[in-house]
Amino acid sequence: MSIFRTKPIERIIQEAAAEGSGTLRRVLGPVNLVTLGVGAIIGTGIFVLTGQAAAAYAGPAIVLSMVLAGLASALAGLCYAEFASTVPIAGSAYTYGYATLGEFIAWIIGWDLILEYALGAATVAVGWSGYVVSFLADLGIHVPPALSAAPGTVLTVAGGGTVTAVFNLPAVLITALVTALLVVGIKESATVNAVIVVVKVTVVVVVIAAGAVFVNMANLMPFVPPNQGRFGAYGWSGVLRGAGVIFFAYIGFDAVSTAAQEAKNPQRDMPIGILGSLLLCTILYVAVSGVMVGLVPYQQLGVAAPMAVAIDAARVHAQGTAWAALMGSMPYVVKIGAIAGLSSVMVVMMMGQPRIFYSMASDGLLPPWAKKIHPRFRTPHITTLVTGIIVGVAAGFTPISVLGELVSIGTLLAFVIVSVGVLALRRRRPELHRPFRTPLVPLVPILSAAVALSLMLGLPWQTWKRLLIWMLVGIALYFAYGRRHSLVQAEAAASQEAR
Ligand code: ALA
Repeated sequence: MSIFRTKPIERIIQEAAAEGSGTLRRVLGPVNLVTLGVGAIIGTGIFVLTGQAAAAYAGPAIVLSMVLAGLASALAGLCYAEFASTVPIAGSAYTYGYATLGEFIAWIIGWDLILEYALGAATVAVGWSGYVVSFLADLGIHVPPALSAAPGTVLTVAGGGTVTAVFNLPAVLITALVTALLVVGIKESATVNAVIVVVKVTVVVVVIAAGAVFVNMANLMPFVPPNQGRFGAYGWSGVLRGAGVIFFAYIGFDAVSTAAQEAKNPQRDMPIGILGSLLLCTILYVAVSGVMVGLVPYQQLGVAAPMAVAIDAARVHAQGTAWAALMGSMPYVVKIGAIAGLSSVMVVMMMGQPRIFYSMASDGLLPPWAKKIHPRFRTPHITTLVTGIIVGVAAGFTPISVLGELVSIGTLLAFVIVSVGVLALRRRRPELHRPFRTPLVPLVPILSAAVALSLMLGLPWQTWKRLLIWMLVGIALYFAYGRRHSLVQAEAAASQEAR
């Protein structure tokens, strides 16, 4: 029994094309898919991390870090687009791994994707809670501090006293809301996501337009601040480290591929969804980060809401001009954009996770109840609920900030495997019909894997250690359950007996 047995590609394509009751509902067109991608991409990364990375690592050259991280994502995006159009299946990287590198690697990648999707959603839920608590406070509504952070977190309250938090109520509430939406339907989820995407993209565009008027060129000089003698403290190494940190801002375009079995025409539309959303967000990111470092000295952006700080500086410049009233409301606009933005990241991440579980259960690697589709809603309701519980517990009860970088390392590992998978499948099945072909093979997949691996190497050892522990737990589960229930293994054994 080989743990590296692959799943026949013809069978995957057949499963991906299945229609009718008991399968997912095909309702998404190209615009839905692009909005799903944008929904997953624009979030904590641009609203929080960009300012912090500019302040600590790159200075005004954060714009170059953005371009670099965008290029790294584009390389991976091209590889995802080939797979998602050739094998349009909800399991995404997990199933691509199964077809090319074998069951064990597939399991590893499926297990690893929990870090990207479930943990990613939990991280974003905590960020969402922070923004909502602060926005409500602006409106005079005060969420009790004890109910606004993970248990044990010591918070300083007005008057200087301290409170020890019990759990993060807003994070649990948003998780429950998103879970309910996802159970009810893919179409409903896509519609809510689209509305939110319009709000957050408008906010980013308004910040770019309003901020650009007040950019002070002096803030942009020197564009690459001199290195301070340590790797990553400004200079060119700072640009690199900045790219590693804000890579998080691009995560999410790959989640589009988990909607492949709900796309009306996945062969054509998957590449549009993946690459279209990525391109749009790269343009917005480069522009908005340029405006932010142009509005205030980058040292001031190392705060929880850097975009609001930057736009507040523009408000000061605008005093006494016709722009004053508009600019005065901008910090609120930014907060609304962030709150909306973060909730749609959760929608798409928590949409991706159950579909991966569903695919793993369909292959026998998870118990059969995980592949149930709701008879009326046609959603994988059980795995959606399980995902909701995992995300809710992680977001409400654990100090998630410690785990944030695990999301990046988990995603990058998936990128490495998908890139290697493109090469493997090209070699093994050159004749396969590929509606979208990654250009310049083998260069693009090799570069993609190398760039993702080097971004992984830039992450702290602590994060690697957590990844290894997570993987060991996953491997133990595989040998305890998956290997013994795998349909691919069972079929191979049956055909050997027949011979
Ligand atoms: N790209 C997503 C975000 O920045 C994960 O929140």
